[in-house]
Amino acid sequence: MQIFTTVAEFRAWRKTAGQVAFVPTMGNLHEGHISLCQAAKARGGKVVVSIFVNPLQFGQGEDFNTYPRTFEADCDKLVAAGVDALFHPTVDQLYPRTEQQYKVEPPAIQNELCGQFRPGHFRGVATVVTKLFNIVQPDAAMFGKKDYQQLKVIEGMVADLDMPIEIVPVDTGRASDGLALSSRNGYLTAEERAEAPRLYRNLMAIKTALEAGATDFVKLTEAARADLENHGWRVDYVEIRDQQRLEHARPGDREMVVLGAARLGKPRLIDNLEVTLG
Ligand code: PAF
Repeated sequence: MQIFTTVAEFRAWRKTAGQVAFVPTMGNLHEGHISLCQAAKARGGKVVVSIFVNPLQFGQGEDFNTYPRTFEADCDKLVAAGVDALFHPTVDQLYPRTEQQYKVEPPAIQNELCGQFRPGHFRGVATVVTKLFNIVQPDAAMFGKKDYQQLKVIEGMVADLDMPIEIVPVDTGRASDGLALSSRNGYLTAEERAEAPRLYRNLMAIKTALEAGATDFVKLTEAARADLENHGWRVDYVEIRDQQRLEHARPGDREMVVLGAARLGKPRLIDNLEVTLG
């Protein structure tokens, strides 16, 4: 695997690389990231991964400084996954000016769901992903469904701004007890880790009820919220939205997604489950 830390070196390599499938990450790689790499590899061309902890998508008081940085271990995993090139720029390489003055502004959905609790987050994501796309120039890019709102923001951005990149959604990797794999799971104590699958179980209960024909969305989401709060969680939201535009779902919708975000101890965990009615 070739490792590039500057934009210029990467661009020189890219000129002769042919078809590229791209996996943007912030490092601290787990099985979920590796499944993105495998999906990229299955396309047959070169696989490029980026590791960059993007300051622009972290808010005041969030974990930018403490976000786990595990570069050596990450490289071992990427080599084992057959990745061809790793782009690992410094903050100065990607943001050489003291302040990034041009930013990519997603539409109003950026202020809902996670955006309501992380102001500016999706602007930071859309901006860095645009920069990475401009540097890597991939033919396809893999995004995990675990960050469902992020996936929708990127899909909308690529469509509206005519970026010639296929966005490939990849299913969420899960532990055997259902917990969605996430770098932030590492913040959980042993006791919290045992409690953590409750979020998944509540989303699954809503999915099962929807599949059985339930239409009282408020009752379903409030029951999930109450169960989580009764077990010590601080809930940001549990909502049922439509899969395409993330608008509030309405009875009669066939393609929905149940999304939740809540804090358990230090970390804020997010998860979601798609519901497609036949
Ligand atoms: O999902 C992530 O890890 C990040 O939001 C991304 C897409 C790499 C942008 O920094």
